[in-house]
Amino acid sequence: EFHLHPKEVSHSFDGPFGRYDNQQLQRGFQIYKEVCSACHSLSHVAFRDLKAIGYSDAEVKAIAKGFQVPGIDPATGEANTRPGLPTDYFPKPFANDIAARAANNNAVPPDLSLMTKARHEGTAYVYSLITGYQEQPAELLKEFPDAKTPNGLHYNPYFANLNLAMAPPLTAEGQVTYADGTKATVDQMAQDVSAFLTWTAEPKLDKRKQTGWAVLGFLLFATILGYMSYRNIWAGKK
Ligand code: HEM
Repeated sequence: EFHLHPKEVSHSFDGPFGRYDNQQLQRGFQIYKEVCSACHSLSHVAFRDLKAIGYSDAEVKAIAKGFQVPGIDPATGEANTRPGLPTDYFPKPFANDIAARAANNNAVPPDLSLMTKARHEGTAYVYSLITGYQEQPAELLKEFPDAKTPNGLHYNPYFANLNLAMAPPLTAEGQVTYADGTKATVDQMAQDVSAFLTWTAEPKLDKRKQTGWAVLGFLLFATILGYMSYRNIWAGKK
């Protein structure tokens, strides 16, 4: 009863006619890049995939260069890092899980590529999680004293465990300065980043919906044609 269902939130890509809004996806990407990527990878997304949301080749190249990806020193053969190329994927920000745990109260920040598919109502879930941090309700503590948020964790009723190791990542209006001039309220940023993470999990959503309508149109046409030929074949055989 203390774990809450995700909040109601609407996006341009809701419903059968819904489409992504590239402006919004770019704002969401900006949040990912400037905030979330400090802890979370997007291991299923290559930098060049960003062209699909409206970035140019030159922009993709510059974005990739801003990330360090795993590499090999050609002289010694040892593992090192190098600036990213458009064909690389968004890297893990920590050298390994031990380093990730050491920096995050013993939790490993999960890859976010498919997060909106992994969780029930994922888009709304990510939005709700980010905007859902609060004080622990007194009734909860009364009923379950053991559920008291341990030091270093944070209470969030949208998280199944109620206490999570991620501190609120978006806390202040204007935390990022949007390239398109949109006012960066916490609510706006949370909507934008959840939209972006919906795109990372389902980049072909627009195509899927468009194809669905074409399929329905064809089926309707084929049904009418079938009915008309039935009438034609049996005409006069009373
Ligand atoms: C977990 C989103 C920034 C550290 C998560 C989860 C999501 C998420 C969806 C998974 C919750 C679940 O398993 O259901 C985001 C977004 C961010 C962001 C959208 C940017 C706006 C950060 C930052 C850090 C961080 C900057 C580190 C300073 C963690 C950790 C967990 C986590 C440690 C695992 C929590 C646990 O299992 O207790 N994040 N995150 N996140 N995140 Fe973030």
